[in-house]
Amino acid sequence: MKKIFSYLLLTLCFNAVKAQDNSAKAKQLVNKMTLEEKAQLVVGVGMHIPGMTPAKSKAKVPGAAGQTFAIPRLGIPSIVLSDGPAGVRIDPFRNGDSSKSYYATAWPVATLLASTWDTALVKKMGVAFGREIKNYGIDIILAPAMNIHRNPLGGRNFEYYSEDPVLAGNMAAAIVNGIESNGVGTSIKHFAANNQETNRNTINTIVSERALREIYLKGFEIAVKKAQPWTVMSSYNKINGTYTSEDPDLLTTILRNEWGFKGMVMTDWFGGKDPVAQMKGGNDLLMPGRLEQTKEIEDAVNNKTLDIAVLNKNAERVLKVILQSPTYKKMPYSDKPDLKQDAEISRTVAEDGMVLLKNNDHALPLKDVHNIALFGINGYELIAGGTGSGDVNKAYSVSLAEGLSNAGYKLDKEIKNDYTNYIKEEKIKHPKKSFMEEFMHPTPPISEYEIDNNVVSKKATESDVAVIAIGRNAGEGRDRKMEDDFNLSDTERTLIQQVTNAFHAQNKKVIVVLNIGGVIEMASWRDNPDAILLAWQPGLEGGNAIAALLNGKVNPSGKLATTFPIKYDDEPSAKSFPGKEFPEQAAIGLFGRKSIPAEVTYDEGIYVGYRYFNTFNVKPAYEFGYGLSYTNFAYSNLKLNNKVFNQKIIATVNLKNTGSVAGKEVVQLYISAPSKELKKPYEELKGFAKTRLLKPGETETIHFTIDPKDLSSFDTKSASWIAEAGNYTVKIGASSTDIKQSADFQLKKDLVVEKDHNVLTPKVEIPEFEK
Ligand code: BGC
Repeated sequence: MKKIFSYLLLTLCFNAVKAQDNSAKAKQLVNKMTLEEKAQLVVGVGMHIPGMTPAKSKAKVPGAAGQTFAIPRLGIPSIVLSDGPAGVRIDPFRNGDSSKSYYATAWPVATLLASTWDTALVKKMGVAFGREIKNYGIDIILAPAMNIHRNPLGGRNFEYYSEDPVLAGNMAAAIVNGIESNGVGTSIKHFAANNQETNRNTINTIVSERALREIYLKGFEIAVKKAQPWTVMSSYNKINGTYTSEDPDLLTTILRNEWGFKGMVMTDWFGGKDPVAQMKGGNDLLMPGRLEQTKEIEDAVNNKTLDIAVLNKNAERVLKVILQSPTYKKMPYSDKPDLKQDAEISRTVAEDGMVLLKNNDHALPLKDVHNIALFGINGYELIAGGTGSGDVNKAYSVSLAEGLSNAGYKLDKEIKNDYTNYIKEEKIKHPKKSFMEEFMHPTPPISEYEIDNNVVSKKATESDVAVIAIGRNAGEGRDRKMEDDFNLSDTERTLIQQVTNAFHAQNKKVIVVLNIGGVIEMASWRDNPDAILLAWQPGLEGGNAIAALLNGKVNPSGKLATTFPIKYDDEPSAKSFPGKEFPEQAAIGLFGRKSIPAEVTYDEGIYVGYRYFNTFNVKPAYEFGYGLSYTNFAYSNLKLNNKVFNQKIIATVNLKNTGSVAGKEVVQLYISAPSKELKKPYEELKGFAKTRLLKPGETETIHFTIDPKDLSSFDTKSASWIAEAGNYTVKIGASSTDIKQSADFQLKKDLVVEKDHNVLTPKVEIPEFEK
């Protein structure tokens, strides 16, 4: 015991010394720098984009998103920053040489990771991800992305975890801790309230202090406190009138002073307007960097509109990160990550985060099935992940067709040919474009193939089961649409109808697999198929993972991290999303795109996702936290260690697998708090856990610790987190509405849990929803 203690003390001292050393060294270096060098260090070296300021140096890792400025005379190297959330995004080939490739693992997208509700697994994936980052000579990965799913049409929702900040924050902390255990850095992004892509560079998010604190900042707060990431990336949008990258209240008062963030803040690429305001705001590094920015900063110091002390601090923070980077430490890298091992980890995670939404009459796992009729273009072309900077150059991706064949099923050849020929022809019509061309003018998705009804009827007699794959893709720069995206297209509806009619007539089952990155409408068609598996965008091993769930090799254990509404209009943000434009003030913006000032008012306040649906009694199609298994679990014996709250409460509950196959269960802890001065949502997620793989008959006891902050809400008047006295109910659920056990405790007196500041205050009155 004594030994362990001394070791811990030694490590603590060592880490403290290391951090101190870095600060002292960074300070010394800044003292030696000229003003010009300082102004150069806080601006990246540019980007290789046609028509833009060329990058000032040759890229160390081709395809990486950016690099910092090197000052060789002081031994300061340029470090490499690369996207992104679902894997290392670099060029797969260099200098036209196809004899050597630089592929990376496409991990499952963030929404799938959140649907695992398994922080240990996500951390493990992070460790493998970090190894790849290091093996490719990259210093900082521009991930994880962790904005809240405010609206189902959000174009980047797949890159983000959840509608709930506790889930999002803990997932982000887990992956940051995993990645950074390799000695490389992360950048949690996009800080903050960046919940849409429409007008993303101009949008002014008008939102209350309480909604910011409880919903949009909360996940970042958890990630900062639990993982202390090397860097934070500010977002493109404004919050209540100020660009986030120019706002000292956000980047200094909240992030650094209130939460204790020790690292560096960088802009999103070309984010914000005023480099001097960014320096003053505490946004230390401007990415990817433009020559004009360096000049403006230098001029501002010369003409005394920027205090040199401010710039020194920014430069010091950039340097501290550089000093801990693999490049500075001259760590060797192989350019040969173990992609095989990582693919396996990617598959395991994918299997863990897929959600079984429907399973009538035990349609799944497949039994006595040999021949499968696989319908839908996405059965033959997996969408491993989304587009834009969230995309990954992977060596391959396993389609559902390949996954089913690998699992030993025979796929109907005739329909396979029909689909693959159709896809080939459609692709010829749309040759592959460069990243920038694709960003400016995205290729429309291939529409669903119109299959002949006679073929479907014939296949219903020849095959044992039908599987229909429905896919969706999206990415940065644009939000999703209602037609043919949130809603199914007419061809997709017809396909589902045709196939279910024909197969049910033969007493055969129909399974729908959803290969989607965000929420879609399901209520109008979900009664047709017998089973529905939500596979999300599952990374490069997706087809194998889906097959493992369909055949029962793996028991589904994912649960929804985001609500599926019955219809779009049921969403609390449906009316305000994506905001109001001011076209008369339009100008030409980045890459020649029209830049239209716009604003969006978050009038739903704190009532986002299930907080809205459950408080206002709106029934969703599938609620937050929902997901089926091939086995059943019994919840019992919920115990609180105290009936009266004093510093903390420990809750324990037993989970027993009462079915006939092994399985894991996601256990969710919600709290319903008393509502006196402060209105409260019906309940809020405060803890979650995933059991180990429980064999039939096995029991596991789960422990939760509830601390004062879990009881509190943000009181705007006093700028503090207050837990109101009264009765609190702990609810243990299999979902947000399927509550299995509950128990009460009392808080005797109001508790001021934390005193913060009144900042980011809206400049206009927000007519928020009232219950
Ligand atoms: C995205 C960021 C990304 C950056 C660098 C921006 O367009 O918003 O998420 O990290 O580009 O590629």
